[in-house]
Amino acid sequence: MSLFWLLHFSAYLAIASSLIKFEDNDLRHKQDGMYLNLYHVAGLDSYLKSTSPFTFSDMFKKDEDHVRYLHSRLTNNEDVRISGTTSPSGKVRGPKPVSIPLKSAIPLDSGNYYVRIGLGTPAQYFSMIIDTGSSLSWLQCQPCKVYCHDQVDPIFNSSTSKTYKTFPCSSPQCSSLKGSTQNKPGCSRKTGSCVYSARYGDLSFTSGYLSQDVLTLTPSETLPSFVYGCGQENQGLFGKTAGILGLGNDKLSMLAQLSNKYGNAFSYCLPTFYSAPSSKGGFLSIGTSSLTSSPYKFTTLVKFPNKPSLYFVDLTSITVAGSSIGVAASSYKFPTIIDSGTVITRLPMPVYTALKDAFVKIISKKFAQLPGVSILDTCFKGSVKTMSIAVPEIQLIFHGGADLSLKAHNTLIEIENGTTCLAFSVSSRLIPIAIIGNYQQQTIKVAYDVANSKVGFAPGGCQ
Ligand SMILES: *[C@@H]1O[C@H](CO)[C@@H](O)[C@H](O)[C@H]1NC(C)=O
Ligand SMILES: *[C@@H]1O[C@H](CO)[C@@H](O)[C@H](O)[C@H]1NC(C)=O
Repeated sequence: MSLFWLLHFSAYLAIASSLIKFEDNDLRHKQDGMYLNLYHVAGLDSYLKSTSPFTFSDMFKKDEDHVRYLHSRLTNNEDVRISGTTSPSGKVRGPKPVSIPLKSAIPLDSGNYYVRIGLGTPAQYFSMIIDTGSSLSWLQCQPCKVYCHDQVDPIFNSSTSKTYKTFPCSSPQCSSLKGSTQNKPGCSRKTGSCVYSARYGDLSFTSGYLSQDVLTLTPSETLPSFVYGCGQENQGLFGKTAGILGLGNDKLSMLAQLSNKYGNAFSYCLPTFYSAPSSKGGFLSIGTSSLTSSPYKFTTLVKFPNKPSLYFVDLTSITVAGSSIGVAASSYKFPTIIDSGTVITRLPMPVYTALKDAFVKIISKKFAQLPGVSILDTCFKGSVKTMSIAVPEIQLIFHGGADLSLKAHNTLIEIENGTTCLAFSVSSRLIPIAIIGNYQQQTIKVAYDVANSKVGFAPGGCQ
């Protein structure tokens, strides 16, 4: 249970640092680009003294839901019909009440990363998950007409903001929702306000009013008319965060809305699960100026017709300890999404099997194999620490030579004391896709130069 204890230890640090988080955002800004500190939600949850402890099985279950969501976006069932998005009373309604989970049953959103932002005038502050796999930003909003889950910060009360506005159903922003959320907008008959709805996985769902207000990123960096969803019904896998900041490539995403001022680019470094907040902690930086701070190796973003908002890259080979895993170049012709919201990297079966075999061949000389756990089928007797000396470097190599060179902390995950697994899994057998998950991106700086259609990697970005 070493991870468990580490999480609790970091809880103390999180409390100590929570007061300075916002000021830190401002200090970072002075270095280059516009920086927000980025944290792992496991820290947020322990900071709250949650009654539901972190479990890997919850995390993996949620991760599978997220992967299913990405699958559904790649297949044709895009136009997910949500019945009753509008009703004569003007109330927002979503799926049948039977699907509303009990508060205690909401799994922790334990695989994701969040930043702190302010919304409204005067600003109210929130912990928001960053998601490159979706575009519309939203947060829970009073009066929570249907349902809001528990969150760390007081829920946003739009009536107390002097600058809050909703959009009429006839607005162009309302018409843009279909492209951003894959769902047609609804219209409140009572108020004529535009109603959005978005689904993320089997259970995750948000619906509410398309709105606009002042977004405060740092005390000196604000966006006067930020378009986002004011969620009146929010169910599922968002943990104790207030909502999501969408960084997808779509005109309603936060990125696009900030691009006029900062340029159409961002970069981030995801800290490890158990890192203490520190000066080398994670960050999200918006703007083209953040791309020049490190020697990034870039690969071209691949465009997929009809899926312009997701970030696709071209994975060309994988090596283990410098040797190819022996899969023909032609076998890598599947769509590969790079995503901040999926934890464990997924690979199509033939590639996954070859990677696993190459890895086991080396590591099993020193460490005994154990039965698989949940979605991870390759486990060993040992800890990340003891195994890190023997673990071979895995490289994910992309078109043009950019690579993700994975260290032990990107390759292995310690599920319980003495059981450590290869942190890769197989994607759906039906749809061969790959998803580069956030576990494999930890501590590496990742730059999204959206304006020039490329993604780059640089090692040693944070701890
Ligand atoms: C984990 O296992 C090691 C070796 O088996 C042991 O020394 C250590 O005390 C254990 N740690 C915890 C927190 O149980
Ligand atoms: C929201 O703010 C309004 C105006 O200040 C207040 O009347 C209302 O009670 C608040 N709602 C909640 C749930 O706090």
